Amino acid sequence: MEKTTVRTVVRGVGHNVPPRSVTNVELSKLMDTSDEWIIERTGIRERRFVEAGTTTTDLALPAIEMACQRAGIKPQDCDMIIGATLSPDFFFPGIGTVLQHKLGMGHVPALDIRAQCSGLIYGLATADAYIRSGMAKRILLVCSEVQSPILDKTNRGRDMAVLFGDGAGALVIESQPCAGEPPRANNQVRGVIDSIMGSDGSGAQLLFLKAPGSIVPGFMTQAAVDAGDIHPKMDGRVVFKNAVTRMVEAANAMLERNGISPSQLDLVLPHQANLRINEAVREKLGIAEDRVFNNIQKYGNTTAATIPICMSEAVEQGKLKEGHLVLTLAFGAGFTWGCNLIRW
Ligand code: UT7
Repeated sequence: MEKTTVRTVVRGVGHNVPPRSVTNVELSKLMDTSDEWIIERTGIRERRFVEAGTTTTDLALPAIEMACQRAGIKPQDCDMIIGATLSPDFFFPGIGTVLQHKLGMGHVPALDIRAQCSGLIYGLATADAYIRSGMAKRILLVCSEVQSPILDKTNRGRDMAVLFGDGAGALVIESQPCAGEPPRANNQVRGVIDSIMGSDGSGAQLLFLKAPGSIVPGFMTQAAVDAGDIHPKMDGRVVFKNAVTRMVEAANAMLERNGISPSQLDLVLPHQANLRINEAVREKLGIAEDRVFNNIQKYGNTTAATIPICMSEAVEQGKLKEGHLVLTLAFGAGFTWGCNLIRW
């Protein structure tokens, strides 16, 4: 029997951010910081915070609804769900199963990816592998973060607290038959062309949240709370340098192995951690300013959700259109990094 070839197509993308905007000035009332410092060092002007009680899966539901509506399907039409988050509703289980139940999806496989800011990259690469192997036909990929409650909004945590926000994005990823060539950079066949993923665990404690965790005697203790280990911590300068180096490395490897030049990319969707990181990466790659989509100014760093939110807004604004050659690009805690090349 002849083997049927399939390709992986993003059928729909959606996003959701909480309505409550928190400005830099508001944060400066809680800690020793300023609007000028935050804008100059990061580009962030405001971010969204959920109201108390809103969970990561609650925030994801409208994003999923938007993605499904744009794809013309229902969540129940998916045969797998992949969650990507560093801020799940529970320490375990992950958001995949919680969403499976909330969406009434039937007993489909549900898994969570723990790749932090690279969640979309790893999630899309994983979905692509499941689809091309024939193990799944239509996958819901959900990237959602409720990070505002874990930030230390005092002077002690000011380097982290000003950076992060809450948000969610979702993708409907589908298997489609491939009659001729698979999607490639040099043809117009829609679909995921290639993915690159990398990691370096020597950086695990340079951007991390320690407690609760098995490294803490007793998993969680009052001492861990008192030491501030329940809040994320980072060596900002080291992370910054690694982010630029790894993102440039990954993008160049992707361009080279697919035989394309930066000018052939219609749009780059980078992770939103710092406008200065994205500007340095853009300059080093030699990509025109109008080919890079940024929205960190409005939302801060929403970790796994940044790229799907960018994708969804780029579609809405007519900047991401069918046939475009798109590069996603991320670096984050782990360390993890990577990129996907997609014919949209
Ligand atoms: O999403 C995962 C990946 N995350 C990232 O890629 C983030 C990477 N890192 C960064 O974006 C930047 O390193 C930061 C935005 C976190 C910090 O910017 P920076 O230009 O690297 O500043 P710095 O850490 O070198 O600190 C400069 C000064 C320090 O004071 P001293 O030591 O020079 O007196 C900090 O204490 O700024 C101080 N500072 C602040 N000042 C006002 C740190 N946080 C704040 C703050 N407001 N919120």
